[in-house]
Amino acid sequence: MCGIVGYIGGRDSKAILIEGLKKLEYRGYDSAGIAVYTADGLEVRKSKGRLAVLEEKLSDEPLHGSVGIGHTRWATHGKPSDLNSHPHTDNSSKFSVVHNGIIENYLELREELAIAGHRFVSETDTEVISHLIASEYDGDIVAAVQRAVGRMRGAFALGVLTEYEPDRLVAVRYASPLVIGIGQGENYIGSDIPAILEHTRDVYILDDGEMAVLTRDAVELLTIGGDVISKEIFHVDWDLITAEKAGYDHFMLKEIYEQPKAYRDTMMGRIAEDGRSIQLSELGMTQEQVKEIRRIHIVACGTAYHAGLVGKSVIEQLARIPVETDVASEYRYRNPIITPDTLVIVVSQSGETADTLAALREARRCGARVLAITNVVGSSVAREADAVLTTWAGPEIAVASTKAYSSQLIAFYLVGLYLAQELGTRDEAAIAEVASALLALPEQVESLLAQADALKAIAEKLARHNSLFFIGRGLDFAVAQEGSLKLKEISYIHSEAYPAGELKHGTLALIEEGTPAIALVTQEELAEKTLSNIKEMKARGAHVLAVTNESNLQEVAKSVDEQFAIPNTLPILTPALSVVPLQLVAYYASLALGHDVDKPRNLAKSVTVE
Ligand code: F6R
Repeated sequence: MCGIVGYIGGRDSKAILIEGLKKLEYRGYDSAGIAVYTADGLEVRKSKGRLAVLEEKLSDEPLHGSVGIGHTRWATHGKPSDLNSHPHTDNSSKFSVVHNGIIENYLELREELAIAGHRFVSETDTEVISHLIASEYDGDIVAAVQRAVGRMRGAFALGVLTEYEPDRLVAVRYASPLVIGIGQGENYIGSDIPAILEHTRDVYILDDGEMAVLTRDAVELLTIGGDVISKEIFHVDWDLITAEKAGYDHFMLKEIYEQPKAYRDTMMGRIAEDGRSIQLSELGMTQEQVKEIRRIHIVACGTAYHAGLVGKSVIEQLARIPVETDVASEYRYRNPIITPDTLVIVVSQSGETADTLAALREARRCGARVLAITNVVGSSVAREADAVLTTWAGPEIAVASTKAYSSQLIAFYLVGLYLAQELGTRDEAAIAEVASALLALPEQVESLLAQADALKAIAEKLARHNSLFFIGRGLDFAVAQEGSLKLKEISYIHSEAYPAGELKHGTLALIEEGTPAIALVTQEELAEKTLSNIKEMKARGAHVLAVTNESNLQEVAKSVDEQFAIPNTLPILTPALSVVPLQLVAYYASLALGHDVDKPRNLAKSVTVE
């Protein structure tokens, strides 16, 4: 995720761009840059690091002009560096592009352009766009952008300038957000409303496949195909703080609602177009190397560890390789058996967690190959691992992790399928079946999010209790642990997650009249057993809410007090759906109790101490 901003008008653009980028820094802050149409033509200043570094550069080498585009980067293709920063230009420096998103076929395009004589200086997919537009240009920047975009696959929001037409700023949206701000004698583009809210409250919110051509005095709206369209102006009456959360009350809620996109982005380009194979070249392993793996260790902390619990089950089921999971703070001290044929998978949203990093170093010291699943390109974990599988959840601001966790699940499904494919433990048809169910998940999450009100009512009742239980078997137990952690950390209500069959060995003594419990019953084969355990709890007075799949609903409803259904999917994939109601319950319980949802007490987003 990156942030883009653009201005065309009568004022000096530099300050407007920088102020806009400051509002977008939450979208990424590993580098920043601006391109401005100056008296000497189109000029670029960009640098690795926070915006302050760019500001310093601009004070040494100022840029003046009333048309410009700017970018704050969250690295995707290519590490954070001056060269990889945006805006990117073509070899003639006559075209300048800022981009948010991913171009899936950029290597193919880059090769073709290189043969035609284009020279590339960065590792980014974006640089390809500026070259492509330059190669398509024959006097009309709008037509050139349309032709270039027609050749690109992936997700993109673009801001494009050319020195040949300094009175036009072209913006495109395809699967990455973009808004157009309408001013008086000036117009703007931004990745989101806060970037331009200081200047205008009237915006067009572009939909996928739409573009805008901005001049000082007008905004023309088109489809990428070239048809002129008209849109309603959206008048923003939010204050800035609300706008930063895109209208949501909290970052956590916003991030919960971003999960369908996070799933799509994390899968993008990794499932073959025909849906029959998995492409994970990021793992950097030949089939022979995959065959040499004897065991896998998954190591992480907190929520990321809980994703690892699902990962263990997924990999073992699909690829039949034995997997152990460890909390990172314990790993080094238990003298684990790590050999060169061990694949160690470390999972970390931030990529900076001290315990996880220490575990990674220990694994490498013992000769294991380390794969990092992380959400932050260029983070310490990403830099030190042998291979990196990035979750494209975008920056996560709320302390309680939601979209990063669920994207980690997607990453594990992809890894499990990939290993199965390389080892031949699953045939093409079986891989295609899981891949197609994976691709259906984002829409299924959307349908769950549409039922948030029902979960709010449930959470408000739960918030009156001091303690509750989460139970489940198999994958449901793994998700129960995440549900319990989420509730604890933001509502401060004590809760315990238990394997459903284990309660009777002691914990059942805690159940009394009215004790609330959330039971996950999504695993068809285990449902009957879990229902028996639910009955044991109910016989002692527990009040049970079941989270189950639609197909089980009627059966489960007979044994519980309340139920919430998730859409049907393959048993192995239910965690990616069942965690969503648990996140919403935790959120609404915290809200009902009046806590600071995004910044729970005693916690920090990134734990860089042991
Ligand atoms: C809980 C939460 C934490 C983190 C843990 C690891 O919501 O966010 O439990 O999962 O601190 O952090 P990362 O994934 O950054 O290594």
